[in-house]
Amino acid sequence: MKKIIVGITGASGAMLGERFVKFLLGAGHEVHAVLSASGQTVFKEELGIKDFKKHFGASKNLHVASAEDFAAKISSGSSKIDAMVIIPCSLSTVGAIANGITMNLIHRAASVSIKEKRPLILVPRESPLSPIHLKNLLYLSEIGVHIVPATTAFYHKPKTIEDMVDFTVGRVLDLLKIEHQLFKRWRENSSAE
Ligand SMILES: Cc1cc2nc3c(=O)[nH]c(=O)nc-3n(C[C@H](O)[C@H](O)[C@H](O)COP(=O)(O)O)c2cc1C
Repeated sequence: MKKIIVGITGASGAMLGERFVKFLLGAGHEVHAVLSASGQTVFKEELGIKDFKKHFGASKNLHVASAEDFAAKISSGSSKIDAMVIIPCSLSTVGAIANGITMNLIHRAASVSIKEKRPLILVPRESPLSPIHLKNLLYLSEIGVHIVPATTAFYHKPKTIEDMVDFTVGRVLDLLKIEHQLFKRWRENSSAE
């Protein structure tokens, strides 16, 4: 069982965060979720979900901290955490993390992940990307942060939005070394090399 911090920010793609948290809880992992103020707005806009915790029911593995609460457990490097994922990740949050600015608990927990050298995975969504976005993403990648853009592949022939979401969520799970069958891999079950 892994202990994962899940940051959800105000980028489009609330489905990605919802699916990721659902998968982790379903597989018995412990989730420490934090939604930014804009993350809550986008969750309501795109999924009609007003109460994040209620949406996932009474799971003992789901802990939700307020984005304003710098005294939360996960604000400290002494917390036993395996990895952090920000999904979806706004380019504003990318900018804050790349520049060491901690205006909310998501930024703080990401900063802690970097200083403690724990896996940090960002799933940014924006289009087109400006030179500022690209520079921040390049810098984060250079210091070891995983950047998994919220884009699908097409070789697994997605038919629904869920198929596309599952591809991105699955690639994040791959980096966390969590087994899943969310998409068919390239040449899976094929005799071709
Ligand atoms: C419906 C909606 C969709 C948005 N989509 C994006 C997006 O895809 N990418 C992005 O970087 N910002 C997007 N934004 C803007 C961010 O929410 C805004 O920059 C905010 O300050 C991000 O704050 P946060 O990173 O603390 O959540 C969107 C805002 C709204 C209301």
